[in-house]
Amino acid sequence: MMADTRGVTENFTYTANPARVVFGVGTRAAVADEVRRLGAGRVLLLSSRPLTGDAAAVPGVLGSLLVAQFDGAAMHTPVEVTEQALRVLHEHRADCLVAVGGGSVTGLAKALAVRTDLPQIILPTTYAGSEVTPVLGETADGRKVTRSAPEILPETVVYDVDLTLDLPVEISVCSAVNALAHAVEALYAPDANPIVDQLALDAVARIGRALPRLAADPRDVAVRTDLLRAAWLAGTCLGAVGMGLHHKLCHVLGGTLGLPHAQTHTVVLPHAMAYNASAVPETMERIAAALDGDSAAAAVYDLIVRSGGPTSLRQLGMSDNDIPRVVEQATAMPYPNPRAVTAEGIEQLLRAAWSGTRPSGTVRDGASPAAPDLTWLTDQVVASFSETPNPRLRHLLSDLVRHAHHYVSANDVTQQEWQYAIDFLTRTGQKCDDKRQEFVLLSDTLGISSAVDVLTNSRTPDTTASAVLGPFYVPGPPEREQGSDISGGLPGTPLWVDVRVTDVGGDPVADAMVDVWQANQDGFYDLQLPDLDGPVLRARFRTDGQGRLRFWTILPSAYPIPVDGPVGEMIEATGRHPWRAPHLHFLIAEPGFRQLITQLFVAGGPYLSSEDTAAGRGDTVFGVKSELVVEFPVAEGVPPEGKTLENGWRRLDFTFHITEL
Ligand code: BEZ
Ligand code: FE
Repeated sequence: MMADTRGVTENFTYTANPARVVFGVGTRAAVADEVRRLGAGRVLLLSSRPLTGDAAAVPGVLGSLLVAQFDGAAMHTPVEVTEQALRVLHEHRADCLVAVGGGSVTGLAKALAVRTDLPQIILPTTYAGSEVTPVLGETADGRKVTRSAPEILPETVVYDVDLTLDLPVEISVCSAVNALAHAVEALYAPDANPIVDQLALDAVARIGRALPRLAADPRDVAVRTDLLRAAWLAGTCLGAVGMGLHHKLCHVLGGTLGLPHAQTHTVVLPHAMAYNASAVPETMERIAAALDGDSAAAAVYDLIVRSGGPTSLRQLGMSDNDIPRVVEQATAMPYPNPRAVTAEGIEQLLRAAWSGTRPSGTVRDGASPAAPDLTWLTDQVVASFSETPNPRLRHLLSDLVRHAHHYVSANDVTQQEWQYAIDFLTRTGQKCDDKRQEFVLLSDTLGISSAVDVLTNSRTPDTTASAVLGPFYVPGPPEREQGSDISGGLPGTPLWVDVRVTDVGGDPVADAMVDVWQANQDGFYDLQLPDLDGPVLRARFRTDGQGRLRFWTILPSAYPIPVDGPVGEMIEATGRHPWRAPHLHFLIAEPGFRQLITQLFVAGGPYLSSEDTAAGRGDTVFGVKSELVVEFPVAEGVPPEGKTLENGWRRLDFTFHITEL
């Protein structure tokens, strides 16, 4: 990130807006205390519809403090609605306003506060950010008038992450980009200052990391926490410094054409940024760095595409015939903006936003800067899935198409490149048979198997960590007696395995089925050695009454994954090595427990460390987890099971913890 020298080299003014903020999960429980803290005792509760979900708990929390409810807040804060609410307020002699909702509800609370000077407590359910600004926009006779005054600023904001969990993904994305716009424009505002910069950059980074994860799990508390924190920070920026071209354009588009507020922000932001980029290159570099991209405008565009947000004004229902009207209004009055606002410039900007082209900046060498817009095509394909009865299938297919279209578009993939990809996948399929699974190998070497494994299995921390299955597992291996030797007489350092299977509380799991498999001393599985007679170095055992399992085998060594197929071609073309760290596989199954598939890695062995993976020297399928790297020490004493050994032997002692379903 670029150093911020402004605070060091220049004087600045920063005005903090005094608000009390209670932030967290479940914080709605504090709302009654917050009312009393303001010295109030008669609450008018505001919303835009009857409260549902977690928000429905608020009246209960308020208890006898609640004297009236008004659930008719409306967009753009019409004064007629404010007057209705005002009558309710007077009738019940309310002395405090509690608002639960998005920007419209906050707007109503502010409109009432400016007329009555009552204190406000806001519980936001979107990322609008207006709860921390002293600004109110009201509509009377179809005209919106904006004013700012200290008494408009809410006294207390209770951010409760729970209240945002049910906000639909599409609305969340647009609302979060609306917040992003506050942060972006704050960074190049004429009254920008280093304090606001820090808040803005933190907001940008949080939105950048959270938004792409939202669709996969809209109720992910960590993702929602990031977005709500960002909304607060970005709202603080909005309340502290002036906004520029982007906000002006959205205001005109909303006011003149009635385009929806947050969606319009989402489409316009990357284009307004591209317009301003040449005037504030350092600011754009800081934004790009916070988003981990090369060009700020393109990074914001890509973020919106990845999150499934709208990218064109056409998609929002605007006609291109309206562009001249918007240009005229947006250029009629001068306003602060880092780059001079010209009619030609704004016309070009709006045409790009109308058709939804990706702002240039990170286009690969030799490609034309503005790749054609694919939104219409993506939308058609996504719409073709709209009747899919299984909602998960509908979502996964739609998102796959969005990502794939974005991938080919962002990288300007050529026909030859795509044909190569198809040939590669065809050959991958052709390489598969009942002993060879090249698709699993491809998924493993791209880290996708490990990613799915982490997503699926890392949510129960008391359970032994899992690891990828790999392509060498054969279901139903031969069942062997406890204490037997599975090495089939193959050469290697003898290894005595003495492991236990328990539940997460440490109680033994008896009679659990445990499949084990491993490579020989030269790094080959039996499947790869056609001359070998029968399954070797693989077996099925049952744990005894103490959950214990003991058997003889040989010490596993590092081995290369098979490289005589398309995956080997990829390994070769990228200069990677094909090696796996030495390990022993386990698959543990017991009715009533979650199946555990894992590997134990030999401490001190090669290709283990994940730092090495980054440097191209770690496990080639990204399968090592530190908890699974264990000592296989040189053993002392008499070998178990009457084994006679001339040289030394090693042992493995380990306890697996499996989780009850
Ligand atoms: C294995 O451990 O057997 C393995 C896992 C992924 C790719 C190749 C081999
Ligand atoms: Fe293996």
